[in-house]
Amino acid sequence: MNVDIGNALASVASPGVSRESLERLDDHVAAAHERIEHGMENREHGYEALNLPQRTDPDEIRAAVEPIADADVLFTVGIGGSSLGAATITNALESETETIFLDNVDPEWITSHLERVSLENAAVNVVSRSGTTAETLANFLVVREAFESAGVDWTERTIVTTGEAGPLRELADRHDLPALKVPDGVPGRFSALSAVGMVAAAVCGHDLEALLAGAAAERETLTGSLFECPAYAYGATAYALDERGAGVNAMMPYAESLETSAEWFAQLWAESLGKDDLGQTPVRALGVTDQHSQLQLYRAGPRDKLVTFVTTQEGTDRQIPDTDVAELSYLGDATLGELLAAEFEATEASLAAAGRPNVRIEIEHVDEYELGGLLYGLEAACVLAGELYGVNTFEQPAVEWAKKATRGLLGGGEFEEAEAVADKTELR
Ligand code: PA5
Repeated sequence: MNVDIGNALASVASPGVSRESLERLDDHVAAAHERIEHGMENREHGYEALNLPQRTDPDEIRAAVEPIADADVLFTVGIGGSSLGAATITNALESETETIFLDNVDPEWITSHLERVSLENAAVNVVSRSGTTAETLANFLVVREAFESAGVDWTERTIVTTGEAGPLRELADRHDLPALKVPDGVPGRFSALSAVGMVAAAVCGHDLEALLAGAAAERETLTGSLFECPAYAYGATAYALDERGAGVNAMMPYAESLETSAEWFAQLWAESLGKDDLGQTPVRALGVTDQHSQLQLYRAGPRDKLVTFVTTQEGTDRQIPDTDVAELSYLGDATLGELLAAEFEATEASLAAAGRPNVRIEIEHVDEYELGGLLYGLEAACVLAGELYGVNTFEQPAVEWAKKATRGLLGGGEFEEAEAVADKTELR
């Protein structure tokens, strides 16, 4: 990926960061890079995620999905980091297999999916690192029952990705389900380039080697300077802008196929950096759609935002048909791609003209290779930002707190978190 931070500099934007401060910050980037390399070499928790391009075995994943590779519809049952990486990849790329991601536990929504689809030709991809997440386990039990009711042997149509132990592993063993392991040292939101994100991609027939090759190429760009490394340029600039008051980061890809990547990014940024009263609040947006809603705020609202654009250089295009209405003739001379590009240029320039910091991340086109690079680059940016903030990027105590409280409230174990909720409820 390429990163252009020109519109985040203090000469253009407010709050912006001066070239001199970035030069000073670069010493910290060099130190953070050493820490990151050390973590990667020693396969430390979290840092190990940046080794996935070398560690993930595409043959193992393809062999495991073999029994369900003929599925017309694939349900992925998982939540957060166990869902969004796979969704980002498969929603970006075309496939004949329909993918449905069951993360929420809204009964009406789950039921409507299960009733709409012919389950004979469907398959299930259950993903949970811990194997204990209530939403995932509950949804899996509901899906399993729906398969049984439809007379389909779910044990023949299910693949599991989970940790070495836990209830989901036990279930997989008991029913002899094909089961892949979530790699050690890789937190959920950093696991898109492991079996967690790639099983769905394999069922959809996507090129796993290209995904990993794109990520590996991005890994090669990690050096000790933000002026040489696109991922670090992004992570350091976002951090520096946050320090100067841009506490909100609006991720705005200009491609419908990348819409889910903004959702994935929001989780990555929020769950990794939101600690110790620090962190930038990620907002999901989509170009051009959100030019007609959020852009007003980005250009004229509080000066507390960084807007991150993701653009692609090439893609399928389509001519806008001619009309004999004179005022519309300019459209007939253009393609939808040209219109999209013009909208992006206008938005970027209008933010810069209003002194609003923005960064452009460019990928060549939306394919496996470029997606692998984008996912890896943003993960590396996040790890760098975590080092600069001095937070523990790879833990998520607030998320774990709520998970335990939920299980406790439903009688799934003795958790002090559940007691705290009960005490609070009594106070009302
Ligand atoms: O990034 C994370 O750690 C979380 O978002 C988890 O992926 C999410 O809570 C799901 O956890 P699990 O994979 O254990 O079901």
